[in-house]
Amino acid sequence: MCGIVGAVAERNVTAILLEGLKRLEYRGYDSAGVAVYTNDGKLLRTRRPGKVSELEQALIEEPLVGRLGIAHTRWATHGAPCERNAHPHFSGDLAVVHNGIIENHEALREQLKALGHVFTSDTDTEVIAHLLHEKLKVQPDLTVALKATVKELHGAYGLAVINARQPDRLVAARSGSPLVIGLGMGENFLASDQLALRQVTDRFMYLEEGDIAEIRRDSVQIWDIDGALVQRESVQYRDGAEAADKGEFRHYMLKEIHEQPVVVQRTLEGRLSQNQVLVEAFGPQAAELFAKVRNVQIVACGTSYHAGMVARYWLEELAGIPCQVEVASEFRYRKVVVQPDTLFVSISQSGETADTLAALRNAKELGFLASLAICNVGISSLVRESDLTLLTQAGREIGVASTKAFTTQLVGLLLLTLSLGQVRGTLAEGVEATLVEELRRLPTRLGEALAMDSIVEKIAELFAEKNHTLFLGRGAQFPVAMEGALKLKEISYIHAEAYPAGELKHGPLALVDNDMPVVTVAPNNELLEKLKSNLQEVRARGGELIVFADEQAGMINGEGTHVVHMPHIHDILSPILYTIPLQLLSYYVAVLKGTDVDQPRNLAKSVTVE
Ligand code: G6P
Repeated sequence: MCGIVGAVAERNVTAILLEGLKRLEYRGYDSAGVAVYTNDGKLLRTRRPGKVSELEQALIEEPLVGRLGIAHTRWATHGAPCERNAHPHFSGDLAVVHNGIIENHEALREQLKALGHVFTSDTDTEVIAHLLHEKLKVQPDLTVALKATVKELHGAYGLAVINARQPDRLVAARSGSPLVIGLGMGENFLASDQLALRQVTDRFMYLEEGDIAEIRRDSVQIWDIDGALVQRESVQYRDGAEAADKGEFRHYMLKEIHEQPVVVQRTLEGRLSQNQVLVEAFGPQAAELFAKVRNVQIVACGTSYHAGMVARYWLEELAGIPCQVEVASEFRYRKVVVQPDTLFVSISQSGETADTLAALRNAKELGFLASLAICNVGISSLVRESDLTLLTQAGREIGVASTKAFTTQLVGLLLLTLSLGQVRGTLAEGVEATLVEELRRLPTRLGEALAMDSIVEKIAELFAEKNHTLFLGRGAQFPVAMEGALKLKEISYIHAEAYPAGELKHGPLALVDNDMPVVTVAPNNELLEKLKSNLQEVRARGGELIVFADEQAGMINGEGTHVVHMPHIHDILSPILYTIPLQLLSYYVAVLKGTDVDQPRNLAKSVTVE
């Protein structure tokens, strides 16, 4: 999604802004731009549709040199991704960049047009520039005028503004879209994500909802939602380990797939005793709250939603707790009936997904027992606003298509299932100890699945010329099939659908022919025999089968049937293991098709708008 970078310094800031934009590229965008107050006193901008590298080339040809500037990567919401709609947007001596959506932009645009403002883009953002311009006529101080402006905006925004008449500062406002100030020595910065600024500082100050900030070279002032001058805590990161570096791998996605044994291990660290899950991993009040839980409501988007769907099988089968799972964009707008003592669980890699955050905020009004976030970013809004948290330890995920975040979420959700069952005394005898033991072995099993990399690469060749694919699974493998289909369509642009295998003859079988490969995940469980009959139904129609099957499942290669044997694993953990070959499959198909694996078209890493 959109990214913001800003800088006020003694040195030329253009290179800093560009480097910041490059570091935000992984979030997904379709145009980029920069505005600089130049050393000869002009406010100038350069914008380009496409990649930051195209903006960089334009700036090599015609450099902008100045000590104050803002920059942006735009992911189109209002208006096509073209130069005219790219940020920064200007009005008078002002330049504005914006993340989020202004919902009342049409009404504001009409009012501003009536006052003589001329619009040059189709964006909602441009109204902010003109409105602020209007406010400056009454109140010439930029910060004061910004405070008056945001009062009239409905929707979500992270904003950064510069004004050629007050070139000593950068001003910013946050409501619904994250912003962080980077603190330097005699220079300060702003970004929508601290990663954008790690090359210039390791000290950060996060803006809170409703904050307005005035950032000068040697000072930062922040006002809260009520207009009171406030101090926000500054944090220092020393790890330096977030290097946005692909290492030996060709793509971030492949690197992240291969990191899974390590990050799963990290997610388990400190959370298991000899033969139990440590319930305190969810926070000091977790044990007391979990004892009261009678239902679970899970809400998430995209891949995180699929993790929630797997968890439903676990929560009901192991802990005997009724569980509902819903995509956040539906949950937030539906009249929800909340059963007494329901735990609200949100799952999110980023912790900033607009729909998931809105669902959490709604849930707070609906009488849930408590809220728990399973999240990969400790400083995210979702974590800050939830009662309990379990941080997955996936590390930064750069590839837009989520991989290691998913498997660590599954680990977190299994820990949750066992914790709830433990506290409520609903686990069958010996189950917790067995699964704790299996969890300890999981990183090794994942390593074994990854060692099948080249086998899956070969299988990928079967898909390169295909336009449609079906993914089948039963039980907790159905959401795994959904995740496999999502990965394939996200990065290879092949149409892929997932079905519970038992539904095959209720419709999708009509599509099966020799142009439609069918991918199946087949662990060795009580549903195996039923699954085998479903597969016969596919073969009988000439459909080519790709089966990822337990080595003990007795499935063999045959004409039109390609069986990949998976290491044997406890059935409960099989969704985690069987995810790996499906990730590898979509990766290798995308590589064969030559698509942009890490930044697939039209998609964003973190969807911070509705
Ligand atoms: C976007 C990403 C997906 C992700 C989804 C939810 O669509 O491209 O990979 O699963 O958002 O994101 P979250 O950060 O809430 O898990």
